[in-house]
Amino acid sequence: MLVPWNDRYATGIDEVDFEHRELVELVNRIHDTYVESNGGAPAIAALFGDLNRAIAAHFALEEHHMRAAGYRALPAHKADHERLLDDLRDMMDAHEAAGTRVDAAELGRALDAWFSVHFGTHDAKLFKAIGHHP
Ligand SMILES: [Fe+2]
Ligand SMILES: [Fe+2]
Repeated sequence: MLVPWNDRYATGIDEVDFEHRELVELVNRIHDTYVESNGGAPAIAALFGDLNRAIAAHFALEEHHMRAAGYRALPAHKADHERLLDDLRDMMDAHEAAGTRVDAAELGRALDAWFSVHFGTHDAKLFKAIGHHP
């Protein structure tokens, strides 16, 4: 498993935690499918699509909570969201253009780096600041 669930990803906001678990599951599924098929599984494009939609919706939800709380670090947090979405789109484009040539280890590193780091820093800070962190 690429990104095992970690309780520090929990925020205490049920809908956000539900989505964090869902995202971790999707990332692991896409990575496993990628490794098993060496990037050749027809399901990969659909999984990328699912991940992209789930992430975009999740970021919108978090940004809603940040605005509602008047959260000062919103611009930096939102900028990291934009960066993650750009990276994901680049990955999807590369996968489409190259067929099977996106390196699975590289994909794994990129996905893990996003999620572990973003969840553990920006998200953790946010929920600590707005008082929902357990
Ligand atoms: Fe998040
Ligand atoms: Fe976030």
